[in-house]
Amino acid sequence: MILDGQTKVYGIFGYPVKHSKSPTFQTAAFLYLGINAVYVPFEVNPDDLEKAVESLKVLKIAGVNITIPHKENVINYVNELSEEVKVIKAANTIKNVDGYLIAYNTDWIGFIEGLKELEPNLEGKKVLVIGAGGSSRAIIYGLLKENVDKIYLANRTLQRAEKLIQEYKEYFRIVDKIITPISLQDIETFLSDVDIIVNTTSVGLNNEDFPLFDYNILKESQTVVDIIYKETKLLKAAKEKGCKYQNGFPMLIYQGAKSFEIWTGQKAPVEVMKKSLGL
Ligand SMILES: NC(=O)c1ccc[n+]([C@@H]2O[C@H](COP(=O)([O-])OP(=O)(O)OC[C@H]3O[C@@H](n4cnc5c(N)ncnc54)[C@H](OP(=O)(O)O)[C@@H]3O)[C@@H](O)[C@H]2O)c1
Repeated sequence: MILDGQTKVYGIFGYPVKHSKSPTFQTAAFLYLGINAVYVPFEVNPDDLEKAVESLKVLKIAGVNITIPHKENVINYVNELSEEVKVIKAANTIKNVDGYLIAYNTDWIGFIEGLKELEPNLEGKKVLVIGAGGSSRAIIYGLLKENVDKIYLANRTLQRAEKLIQEYKEYFRIVDKIITPISLQDIETFLSDVDIIVNTTSVGLNNEDFPLFDYNILKESQTVVDIIYKETKLLKAAKEKGCKYQNGFPMLIYQGAKSFEIWTGQKAPVEVMKKSLGL
């Protein structure tokens, strides 16, 4: 790759950011399509987020992804929020249009596109979503857009699930009929009623983490997604049962593909992006 005076700069703001896979697969996409651009990691201390966002204008950085822990705070420092960001209240993508910063959230579409590799039609499905944090908000936004029939929303802190429902009511008419908040202890009661199970918590990241429920009661007909980037105990159990299952990499690739499309206006080479991560 030859860099010159016209090379556009893209990147990712995170803290930490060392482990991010985005520079690898976004760079692979630029190279494949012959786009004169680079994508670099920026470690941004939370105290410096406002300054870092402002610097996008000064340095004419064309666009960035935003990752943990900045996705919520960043929306305070941009010029415009896209519709989905207003609902989800978190952004993972900024586009710099001549100094005017627009924030987007592509996590929801990333999750949906990934899930569709296993379940092409989500309409009418019943889903258990475990966790009510930032990624859950994006995933629930996507599931509601796909017209699922039912969402059981299980969270350790029940009030957080209830707050999400309350807030989403403003945007989705019958959300309190579709989403039922439940405690983690209640998961086993509702499990046999669902088609799809999604873990959005960080439980499973460490091998010694306790299981979120008794994984032996999974049924072969169920589809299981864990958005953690590895084969967690939940996914191992799903595999052993013969379920369709997926880790966090499809969501990662598809959210990045959508960001790429927002920035460049070109279709993202998803297979090239996957291959660059050995997927
Ligand atoms: N694949 C992808 O593209 C992708 C994208 C985004 C995030 N992720 C992954 O998703 C995970 C969550 O990210 P996030 O941004 O949603 O985090 P977050 O906003 O901090 O939310 C964390 C969620 O996990 C729950 N939780 C944490 N520790 C728990 C425990 N010990 N027992 C039970 N529940 C617990 C929290 O429950 P409380 O409300 O009770 O605290 C909350 O629901 C991370 O592992 C992250 O790497 C993956």
